Amino acid sequence: MGNIKITKSETSKFDEIDWNNLGFGKYFGDHVYISDYKDGKWSEGEIVPYSDMSAEPALCTLHYGQTIFEGLKAFYSVDGGANIFRPDMNAKRLNVSAKTLCIPAYDEARFLEACHDLVLLDRKFIPKEKGQSLYLRPLVYGTGNFLGVHTSDTYRMIIMSSPVASYYAEGLAPLKILVSDQYVRTVRGGLGAAKTAANYAASLLAGTKAKEQGFAQVLWLDGVSLDYVDEVGAMNIMFVIEDELITPPLWQGTLLAGVTRDTVLKLADEMRLKVSERQIRISEVFKAHNEGKLQEVFGTGTAAVISPVGLLSHKRVEITINDFQIGPLAQKFYDVITSIQHGETKDERNWVMRVNF
Ligand code: COI
Repeated sequence: MGNIKITKSETSKFDEIDWNNLGFGKYFGDHVYISDYKDGKWSEGEIVPYSDMSAEPALCTLHYGQTIFEGLKAFYSVDGGANIFRPDMNAKRLNVSAKTLCIPAYDEARFLEACHDLVLLDRKFIPKEKGQSLYLRPLVYGTGNFLGVHTSDTYRMIIMSSPVASYYAEGLAPLKILVSDQYVRTVRGGLGAAKTAANYAASLLAGTKAKEQGFAQVLWLDGVSLDYVDEVGAMNIMFVIEDELITPPLWQGTLLAGVTRDTVLKLADEMRLKVSERQIRISEVFKAHNEGKLQEVFGTGTAAVISPVGLLSHKRVEITINDFQIGPLAQKFYDVITSIQHGETKDERNWVMRVNF
């Protein structure tokens, strides 16, 4: 750590930040990490000022979307310095996405070093309040200029940062979610397990329509039968039915292997909860509600952390979950995870990469 070449910015965007109104992804740190792939290898990479980037009209990524990204967070730690939460998981997942999009893999150790050094340099951008963080957004894209549909020979990796509060305006208050019975995000054999722009592009129309109707997001069902639950797009989804924690499985390759999803499953195991990673039909969820067995629904994600769902609407039938209150398990997971992230609880599981300053 600390070996990456740095060119410091002569100006700072720090004073433009409204710390009481951070929102998500509105403000950016002063520096970015950049590494380029050419002639079959990645350059060493360096940290430079955040600035405009030029692009030719023929930039292949703009046309065909050969791009992947990640999301991870650095937290202000109560014992000084910062904690980056489970960055090794993001380094690995980036390379899973890379494989799907025919992008050359990035060295995981270098990825971790870049995250560390960027956070250290832009540490004044880490918000001080609990639940807030410096979100890191690694992005890799093809930099070739051509119009034929094929992979690029050259790529760029960028890691940028953004001081953030809650992803949803609702904060930790329950969300209203529309279960899509018309649009699908992905299908088996598609890109669903990769963190790539196409999956988010696929969500825009349904998401916009859902927002117009007062919903925060869309819950996606499987792309063939529109029967089984997949995920929300910005988060994975979990149900508590008769004290059993149920979440859709990863094996079909249609949903993202969320880091927070994995964290919750590991904590649930430690808590000796009954946990099932299994397919679940949306009709089973609504039936469980009608029989009084659906106790909680919540989303998990790096941006979303733990986001309780208070209402689900499917084919114009609405169900209210746990009286539109956050449930005890969602609250417990939120508390345990955020206290590890902020260094209030000992990091017994080695989930935190320290940034000392
Ligand atoms: C994340 O949780 O990091 C995400 O990428 C979700 C969304 C902001 C795209």
